[in-house]
Amino acid sequence: MQNNIILIGYMGCGKSTVGRSLAETSAVAFLDTDARIEEKEGIPISEIFSKKGESYFRDMETECLKALLREKAAPSKACEDVLKERKGCVISVGGGLPVREENRTLLRQLGKVIYLKAGPDTVYERIKGDTTRPLLQTEDPMRKIREMMAAREEKYQAAAHMVIDVDGKTVADIIEEIKSAEEKL
Ligand code: S3P
Repeated sequence: MQNNIILIGYMGCGKSTVGRSLAETSAVAFLDTDARIEEKEGIPISEIFSKKGESYFRDMETECLKALLREKAAPSKACEDVLKERKGCVISVGGGLPVREENRTLLRQLGKVIYLKAGPDTVYERIKGDTTRPLLQTEDPMRKIREMMAAREEKYQAAAHMVIDVDGKTVADIIEEIKSAEEKL
């Protein structure tokens, strides 16, 4: 892997699972913007939303992308060995991150962007009962999923270098598709 691979898509589309597995099989590092933000703040995302508000979280997402770009341009000592072998890493980003236009530009500067496109049923099955995602703590999560997906589809498409339909596919199937397309990206 010679460039960063960035996975975008709606909550529950499999970005983290696929990302972790892809990084492992490619022997590269895996990063997750949500995890970085939680680490920096020292509290879970649900608490960042409730204590500091969504716009604070969205600003942190943009800041996180800028920090990753700075690392790409001037890698810290820890990253140097990896970069000497000209390896990239796999980065999974929060579902709402590509909504900001500025973030879409930053994402495409950071690496090759792959949109894991899942249908609402797949997402609902995966996230029902989940309490860690503040935006889905509503009476009718399926309706919210459909609305947010419709509003975000255009943004995800605009950010992506490649789109993969993930419904009905295994993690291994998706990784296979990414690997066979990687050279052409
Ligand atoms: C969000 C998605 C979440 C997390 C936050 C907001 C969104 O990440 O960033 O709860 O707006 O879609 P995942 O997509 O990794 O669940």
